[in-house]
Amino acid sequence: MKNIPQKRTKGPYLHAYILPSLTIGLLAWIAVFTLSSFSNSEPINSPSNQDMTENAQTAPDDTLTDAADTIAQEDEAQVDSEEFPYDRGDYTSQQTRRGERLFKGLLPFESGQHDCSSCHYTSAQEEINWNPAAWELAEVWAENPEYSLETTMNQPLTARLMEDHEGMTITREEQHLLEAYYTHLLKEGPDTLQAYPIRAFIFWGLGFLMLLAIIDLIFTRVIKFKGVHILILFAGIAVHGQFAMAEAQNLGRTQGYAPDQPIKFSHLIHAGENDIDCNYCHTISSKSLSAGIPSNNTCLNCHNVIQEGTLSGQFEINKIHRAEENGEPIEWIRVHNLPDHSFFSHAQHVNAGQLECTDCHGDVETMHIVKQEEDLSMGWCLTCHRENDVDFLDNPYFEMYEKLHDKIKSGEIDGVTAAELGGEDCMSCHY
Ligand code: HEC
Ligand code: HEC
Ligand code: HEC
Ligand code: HEC
Ligand code: HEC
Ligand code: HEC
Repeated sequence: MKNIPQKRTKGPYLHAYILPSLTIGLLAWIAVFTLSSFSNSEPINSPSNQDMTENAQTAPDDTLTDAADTIAQEDEAQVDSEEFPYDRGDYTSQQTRRGERLFKGLLPFESGQHDCSSCHYTSAQEEINWNPAAWELAEVWAENPEYSLETTMNQPLTARLMEDHEGMTITREEQHLLEAYYTHLLKEGPDTLQAYPIRAFIFWGLGFLMLLAIIDLIFTRVIKFKGVHILILFAGIAVHGQFAMAEAQNLGRTQGYAPDQPIKFSHLIHAGENDIDCNYCHTISSKSLSAGIPSNNTCLNCHNVIQEGTLSGQFEINKIHRAEENGEPIEWIRVHNLPDHSFFSHAQHVNAGQLECTDCHGDVETMHIVKQEEDLSMGWCLTCHRENDVDFLDNPYFEMYEKLHDKIKSGEIDGVTAAELGGEDCMSCHY
């Protein structure tokens, strides 16, 4: 082997193995990325209940979102000549389309041009939006057969409605068109946000350039100066690497998880601005493992009196009343979740360990939406158990550990960690 000159083997080896496998790898990666971004771009399902589809039976299937096809006048002429049945559930696709245009400010109401969707979003948002979303308005309407949009709009009752809906009166006909759009929303769910077209363009463009560079390097050899190929490949790998990181971060880990809740409940407003104690809502007794989520009644202690919020008007607080009337609990979505095989007790940590909520949950009182601050991994639990001394001497909970007390008194040790109290035994955290 040693006799074979290095120079000869290196070239063919590079061309025969490394570059083709690079090419295949690149193709595979592009395929995987494309597949995974397809699966991400599924439409967000409407949070609507089954019974709403009853109303939706006659809603049309045609896509409504092509705003480009603004044959508005044509529509108008046709629809105006139609009879308006005021029964619910009786909508033509024309009406649905006009309803959507009215709602999105693309057609004027009789009282003027109003873009309802500027406040009542028609797609899911990252940030909290205190106004009711369009599909939530539709849900409230669908739930109650007596609900009249006309009355709501023309005789506003709350401070927020009077202020935000000023001058937005609607007619019977317009009510019917909006209802047609509501029905469509309940059936189709919120609009999906456009996938980032620029991102896709960069991704594909660079991918293509990288392929060309590799092909030219191996076969065609048009560009003699190899620096060009290397530059393209480096830039491509850097950008694709960055995309890959972004994708990987979405897998598995739930740190930073902050789901949309059924009611826009804000810890900032309650625990922060109004200084309500955590324990008022999350009662941690020495008996229970969990901190517990408050029941409707806890909310109603205050919200029987406080009917309107500064930011959301009465819409969000009304949801508590509706849940109570229907005898249903509010279906809060869990944020923190350990796997089934591990065991965690709040009482142990708050009573015996004398920890603050913020030690593990971050500054919840500054969050509108609760977010998971820590990764809740085993390493996170163990690091704290090993590194921090517990308040051993003054806590009656630890009186039974006589040997350790003696050791401290004799100066043999100067502190005790949770790990030394059993917080490192597999059995204390795993069943
Ligand atoms: C007025 C009642 C109320 C008060 C006061 C309150 N919370 Fe909450 N908390 C809730 C409700 C309701 C939820 C469920 C909805 C959510 O996640 O936002 C919740 C959720 C949480 C969660 C997430 C639970 C999960 O699903 O994993 C944490 C953590 C939490 N609260 C911590 C705190 C801390 C810390 C304080 C004190 C600074 C506090 N809460 C004060 C009502 C309250
Ligand atoms: C101890 C009293 C108290 C309890 C308990 C309480 N709240 Fe509140 N809540 C308030 C106060 C005070 C406000 C602020 C009202 C304002 O904006 O003027 C408020 C505001 C709100 C708002 C409107 C926020 C805005 O600015 O629009 C919502 C929604 C809300 N609470 C939901 C809940 C839910 C859900 C619960 C039960 C988990 C709950 N509250 C429990 C006192 C309470
Ligand atoms: C400037 C923002 C804004 C615009 C624009 C707006 N709304 Fe609203 N709307 C709100 C807010 C805020 C609420 C919740 C107020 C409350 O419940 O007290 C609301 C509530 C509603 C409700 C529910 C009322 C109830 O209690 O059931 C309906 C229906 C509604 N809007 C329809 C419309 C329509 C239709 C348009 C367009 C013509 C429109 N809104 C434009 C801010 C807006
Ligand atoms: C030692 C860390 C730690 C401390 C301190 C802590 N928590 Fe938690 N909390 C957790 C973990 C871990 C979970 C997830 C538990 C699970 O999934 O079984 C959790 C879950 C929760 C939940 C979700 C519901 C439940 O009971 O599982 C709420 C609410 C909550 N914590 C509130 C609080 C409040 C309020 C305090 C302060 C009184 C507090 N936590 C202190 C670690 C902590
Ligand atoms: C911020 C520090 C901290 C974190 C994070 C933490 N713990 Fe603890 N843990 C303590 C303290 C302090 C004690 C009290 C010492 C004791 O009771 O032995 C304790 C005690 C315990 C005990 C009782 C040990 C025994 O046998 O006496 C268990 C079980 C436990 N923790 C499980 C967990 C789990 C599971 C996690 C991660 C999900 C976790 N802890 C995260 C500080 C922490
Ligand atoms: C202080 C509490 C604690 C102790 C002590 C502890 N574990 Fe864990 N362990 C956890 C938690 C919490 C998880 C779940 C973490 C996650 O899903 O990332 C976990 C997960 C695991 C898993 C699943 C693998 C994984 O990463 O999901 C295994 C296996 C495991 N532990 C084994 C052990 C063994 C063996 C011991 C004893 C040497 C031990 N654990 C001691 C808290 C603990």
